[in-house]
Amino acid sequence: MILITGVSGLLGANLLFAAEGHGYEVTGVYRQHAMHFPAAETVRADLTRPDAASDLLQSRKPEWVIHCAAATDVDWCEDHPKDALKTNVDATRRLAVAARSIGARFVYISTDAVFDGKGGPYGEGDPSRPVNVYGETKAEGERATRAELPQSLIVRTNIYGWSGQESKPSLAEWVLGQLEMGSRVPGFQDVTFTPILVNDFGDILLELLDRGLEGIYHVAGSEALTKYRFAQRVAARFGYPEDAVLPATLGGSKLRAPRPRSTPLRTDLVRKVLGRDLPDVSMGLMRFKQLRDEGYLDKLKACRGG
Ligand SMILES: NC(=O)c1ccc[n+]([C@@H]2O[C@H](COP(=O)([O-])OP(=O)(O)OC[C@H]3O[C@@H](n4cnc5c(N)ncnc54)[C@H](OP(=O)(O)O)[C@@H]3O)[C@@H](O)[C@H]2O)c1
Repeated sequence: MILITGVSGLLGANLLFAAEGHGYEVTGVYRQHAMHFPAAETVRADLTRPDAASDLLQSRKPEWVIHCAAATDVDWCEDHPKDALKTNVDATRRLAVAARSIGARFVYISTDAVFDGKGGPYGEGDPSRPVNVYGETKAEGERATRAELPQSLIVRTNIYGWSGQESKPSLAEWVLGQLEMGSRVPGFQDVTFTPILVNDFGDILLELLDRGLEGIYHVAGSEALTKYRFAQRVAARFGYPEDAVLPATLGGSKLRAPRPRSTPLRTDLVRKVLGRDLPDVSMGLMRFKQLRDEGYLDKLKACRGG
């Protein structure tokens, strides 16, 4: 059985479906936003409570724990550094300890935001030098994971996809939502990344699990592009004119926390393990659209609330 934390979030919800598709029994953990999946048990737990991790793992005894839950709002983390630390570091450490005590394998999901964005593309061995509290706490979460459970798998990424969360859409969902309302969309020309569709990420992560990997791996898209260009590609895929995306800059934005500017991830290690390339933006966006056309977003939304 796999226990996935953060199943009310973008990654957790999509990973739960992917794991079920791969034949795993799954238990999903959420905190504030209730989730009801047709075939998986879900549990409400606040992982910042000191006993939450051990209670969960002792009662369920999963073989794998995939820890997706995190405080992910970059500006909120900057304004609430102690709370960000409690969620992204302390809760992670307690989950890793609890996983060790029951002999479960542990996966910690991390981010390209552990890098300063001044260089890149970044390899797994490059030093992490985060520029904001979110990145600092995620990097500290990596260190806590490795200290408590050196055989853990740590996967850094940058994802987009269907979350079905109105309050926190993924970048591609937000772009599309704005275009559908007839608004024009600002796209940062000075931020470069290697996004991967969350469903592709989930399938690859499950392959890494099957292979029993440990250590740090980057799982990201094969194409580095600016957020401006990415938003244009989303627009084009859904039949909107590319000039509905307006050039903008991070420097000119009102975002409070500093952001790293260029965080493409090198994926040589994972490509060697898999023996193939990772999907590019065209492939990802094609599947992104196909999923909605097939009713996947409706299926995801139907799991929310209640
Ligand atoms: N989205 C990205 O582009 C991106 C990029 C790189 C890395 N990541 C990493 O990928 C992981 C998943 O990100 P995401 O975008 O799916 O996040 P998300 O949509 O913001 O979801 C966060 C999840 O964490 C849960 N959570 C937060 N605090 C919790 C607590 N104290 N106890 C239990 N659960 C808690 C939330 O539950 P409730 O909502 O129910 O409270 C929610 O399910 C994170 O580790 C993030 O750092 C994401």
